[in-house]
Amino acid sequence: MSESLYGGTSSRRVTIRDLQQAKLAGDRWPMLTAYDYSTAQVFDAAGVPVLLVGDSAANVVYGYDTTLPVSVEELLPLVRGVVRGSKRALVVADLPFGSYQASPQQALETASRFLKEGGAHAVKLEGGARMVPQVELLAASGVPVMAHIGLTPQSVHALSGYRVQGRGDEAAGRLLEDAKALQAAGAFAVVLEVVPFDLAKKITHELRIPTVGIGAGVECDAQVLVWQDMAGLRVDGKPAKFVKQYADLTAVLTDAVHRFADEVQAGTYPGAEHSYH
Ligand code: KIV
Repeated sequence: MSESLYGGTSSRRVTIRDLQQAKLAGDRWPMLTAYDYSTAQVFDAAGVPVLLVGDSAANVVYGYDTTLPVSVEELLPLVRGVVRGSKRALVVADLPFGSYQASPQQALETASRFLKEGGAHAVKLEGGARMVPQVELLAASGVPVMAHIGLTPQSVHALSGYRVQGRGDEAAGRLLEDAKALQAAGAFAVVLEVVPFDLAKKITHELRIPTVGIGAGVECDAQVLVWQDMAGLRVDGKPAKFVKQYADLTAVLTDAVHRFADEVQAGTYPGAEHSYH
């Protein structure tokens, strides 16, 4: 694929090799979360090269307070829907909390389920150097792994909340070493979540693999957002500082619901054109 990754016209699936080439070419790309067939179709047709079935499904699909409760059984059907809904995007399945931390073997068993039963093309897991044995076994077994460091929401309690990570020389040095260790272990990309701009820039320049930023500034090779944040589909809570809302889907949907309900109440829907005679 020599054209840009975003919006490319090739109908074959994007591969991790394409992501590597994009890094070398300085070609930046967007990644979005997706959790179902219909939105996967829209994002795929719009040219988004990588779709993540994030464990953020815990929040935006299942309504849990954190990402901790969501299970493999809850995520697998979402992965299937996203894979069926996409033709070109590389689909990455998030490994949920408790499904990979115990051992590299546990990680391989869970990842195998997402690839065999879900049809995913890669998996993502959270954690720095301590995840090196997991990444090594997955990579050696032919499972592409996207790493995720910085603010890792599955560790929200250990991190004492959702806060910026890697501030100060020592913490920044640790995060850089984590990123290098994950790359050496065979990760094909690394998500940097909520880390200072300068640190994300340094990590991005020092790694051969692409960095995918979320709250990590513009110097990352790629950017990811939870699609509901990106499109303004949110009823409660305040979006994080790094979220840019590109639409107001809450307003669009609310308006559509009101007009539908009003017409039902008034007896003007369905009209003759929507009826069978
Ligand atoms: O679960 C998720 O959506 C994620 C992204 C925000 C990176 O991990």
